[in-house]
Amino acid sequence: MALVTTKEMFAKALDSDYAIGAFNVNNMEIIQGIVDAAKDEKSPLILQVSAGARKYAKPVYLLKLVEAAIEDTGLDICLHLDHGEDFDICKKCVDDGFTSVMIDGSKHPFEENIRITKEVVEYAHDHGVVVEAELGKLAGVEDAVKVEARNATFTDPEEAAEFVARTGVDSLAVAIGTSHGAYKFKGTPYLDFERLKQIHALIPETPLVLHGASSVLKEFVDRCNQYGAKIPGAQGVPEEMILEAVKHGVCKVNIDTDLRLAMTAEVRRYIVEHPEDFDPRKYLGVGREAIKGMVAHKIRNVLNSSGRM
Ligand code: G3H
Ligand code: 13P
Ligand code: ZN
Repeated sequence: MALVTTKEMFAKALDSDYAIGAFNVNNMEIIQGIVDAAKDEKSPLILQVSAGARKYAKPVYLLKLVEAAIEDTGLDICLHLDHGEDFDICKKCVDDGFTSVMIDGSKHPFEENIRITKEVVEYAHDHGVVVEAELGKLAGVEDAVKVEARNATFTDPEEAAEFVARTGVDSLAVAIGTSHGAYKFKGTPYLDFERLKQIHALIPETPLVLHGASSVLKEFVDRCNQYGAKIPGAQGVPEEMILEAVKHGVCKVNIDTDLRLAMTAEVRRYIVEHPEDFDPRKYLGVGREAIKGMVAHKIRNVLNSSGRM
C-alpha cells in the first residue's frame, strides 16, 4: 500500500480494453466513498485534486486524507494534480508528495505549451513523478459542429505526436468533443473517434486521457431536480462512448460532475425526507454512500477496471 505513479497502471491498461478512473476529491466523504468502491472492486485508482479543491480544503488536509485512505484500505493509489496551470503549482505538488501532475498548457500557443510542459516534465521526472499534459481545447461541441471549428479546437494528431516527442510527457489529454461540467452537448452527443484513432495510431505508446468524461446520468439529474435543484437540460457523454474511447488508447477517464450529481441528489433527498434531522453525519453519510455507488458503477460498467488491481 503506497502512493504510486500511473506508470504500471497505464502500461497494463494500454494493452487492454479498460481504463483507470480519475476521480476528483474535495473532502473526506468523497475520498472515503471512492476508495471504498475501488477496494470492493479491486480496481486501480487515481485520486485527483484541482486548484479549487486545494483552495477549498487546504492542500495539507487532502494530502493527509489520501494518506489515511491508503492506510485504511491497503490500496495503492495515484495522487494526481488536475489542471495545474503553471510550473509553480506543479512543483508544489511534486514537493508535497503527489505522484502525478498535470500541466495544462492547452490555453497557450503550441510552442509555449511545449515550453512549460517541458519545464514541468524535467522537474517532475527528476523527482520520480509522472506528467500529464493537454493539447487541444475542451470547448464543447456546440463550438465544434462544423469541421473547420473542430479542426481549430480538437487535438491535431500530427501536433500530438510532435508534442509528445518534444516534451517527453508521460500521458496526453486530448480534445475530441468532451467538455467539463453538466452541459456537454446541446444536440446529439458527438465524439470524434476517427481523430482519436489517428492520434492513437501515431503515438501508440502514449496513454491518452479523456477529460470531461462524466455521463450526467438522467436518473441523478432528475433526482436532484425532484428535490429542489434547477439543472435543466444537462447532458453528458453517453457511457457507450466512453467504453468505445477506452478501446483506442484512452487509459485515464476523468470524472467529477457525476460524483457531484450523485452526492447532491442523495443529500437533497435525505434533507427533504428527514426535515427533523440536522446531524451533518446523516446527510453526508448518505452522500458518501452515493459516491461509493457511482464509483462502483463506473468501475464495473464504464471503465471495465474491476479486478485489474
Ligand atoms: O476539471 C475540472 C474539475 O471538475 C475540477 O473542478 O476546478 O471546480 O475543482 P473544480
Ligand atoms: P467532468 O466535468 O465531465 O466530470 O470532467 C472532470 C474532469 O475532466 C476533471 O479534470
Ligand atoms: Zn479536466
